[in-house]
Amino acid sequence: MDRFIVRGGHKLRGTVRVGGAKNSSLPILAGCLLADGVSVIRNVPDLRDVRTMLQILGALGARAERKKNGDIEIDATELTSHTAPYELVSTMRGSVCVLGPLLARLGVAKVSHPGGCVIGSRPIDLHLKGLRALGARISIRHGYIMARGDDLAGTDIFLGGLFGSSCLATANVMMAAVYASGSTVIENAASEPEMVDLANYLNKMGAVVRGAGTHRIEVVGVRKLRPAKYTVMPDRIEAGTFMMASAITKGEVGVEGAPRGTMAAVFDVLARAGVRVEADGDTLWVRQPRKIKATEVATLPYPGFPTDLQAQLMAMMCVADGISVLTEKVFPDRFMHVAELARMGADILREGPRAIVKGGAKLSGAPVMASDLRASAALVLAGLAAKGETSVARVYHLDRGYERLDDKLRALGADVERVKD
Ligand code: EPU
Repeated sequence: MDRFIVRGGHKLRGTVRVGGAKNSSLPILAGCLLADGVSVIRNVPDLRDVRTMLQILGALGARAERKKNGDIEIDATELTSHTAPYELVSTMRGSVCVLGPLLARLGVAKVSHPGGCVIGSRPIDLHLKGLRALGARISIRHGYIMARGDDLAGTDIFLGGLFGSSCLATANVMMAAVYASGSTVIENAASEPEMVDLANYLNKMGAVVRGAGTHRIEVVGVRKLRPAKYTVMPDRIEAGTFMMASAITKGEVGVEGAPRGTMAAVFDVLARAGVRVEADGDTLWVRQPRKIKATEVATLPYPGFPTDLQAQLMAMMCVADGISVLTEKVFPDRFMHVAELARMGADILREGPRAIVKGGAKLSGAPVMASDLRASAALVLAGLAAKGETSVARVYHLDRGYERLDDKLRALGADVERVKD
């Protein structure tokens, strides 16, 4: 298992280019199952989660590989299985988004139930509700979601739960509905930019999906989709992480190729925290001349501040001037990083879905443990700002969602080393 050794105290300087979005790559790769033939997906980051998705597609009979030029080619002409096995699904919750495409293409799907994870209980009731509304017969047996439905029919579906909309439930219903008869309307659909990316891809394949990016998506069923070439959008979470890395080290980093139009809430929070962000062509320059200011932030579904940046923001708040309040309204238990940040000298009080961060901490390097993807990023950021050496164990979590984060940070002047235990 790899860990990172981060020696803090270096201001980051230079430019870094943002890669493709993990959270659109995964449903888009699953969407390749819908078409008989060879799809080519570009700008897919080389991540552990992406490799897991390619293995799942392989287990279903598709030929999925990354070419030398980085493109992913998926030949889904023949699917030989409808089972996404436990061994793969259990390592990545996002695998559940093969359910909709399998059901649409084969009329049958058997997908391991993804269960919970460290960021919360993560139910799948909305996925099942949406698919059942289309006419699928679904049961949970021996840890698997068993779904059948040769004759899915369009209908109106309200896809809201206790915490609002759901990205992957929206993705699953959108993809299951492409071959349903008639028209499907998803009310309270997730409006995340990654859902727009997925809808654009489906439309390029010949689907009729309207309204993506709003809370009302309409899918008009068609008879057949064709394979397509598609380029995935850039990753707004990776972009935000580098912006915060620049701010926490009082550095001067230019983040290139960020999907700026999708990041208004991030810019707003950074502005309130006193972080200067200036756009110059394709580059967002993040300059942090003064102290970071404390802020009050709640995570919310898009266009609100993303939960996937909450942990990184908390690391920044640890060194801010004053008391910050972070409320997690998407995953109320997503606070595994709190205890590890405390090991580095952070002063954080967690009360239910809220963390009160007393700023001004003099962070000091310590051995810490990564618990999930974004928590790991927060620990690395804290390590960059800390005095001395931070050893972040279990960085395989980080490798799930950040491509070569250590290399990219080193190129900006950080002292980060990957060591094998
Ligand atoms: N929810 C339900 N029932 C459901 C599904 C979701 O109650 O059937 C709840 C969840 O428990 C949560 C809220 O709805 O409280 C939103 O969850 P959502 O379903 O939107 O999450 P997801 O689609 O499973 C994706 C991303 C996550 C990201 C969330 C929220 C992928 C592969 N994953 O998950 O990304 O945090 O949306 O934006 O797209 C990450 O990248 O680190 C990550 C966890």
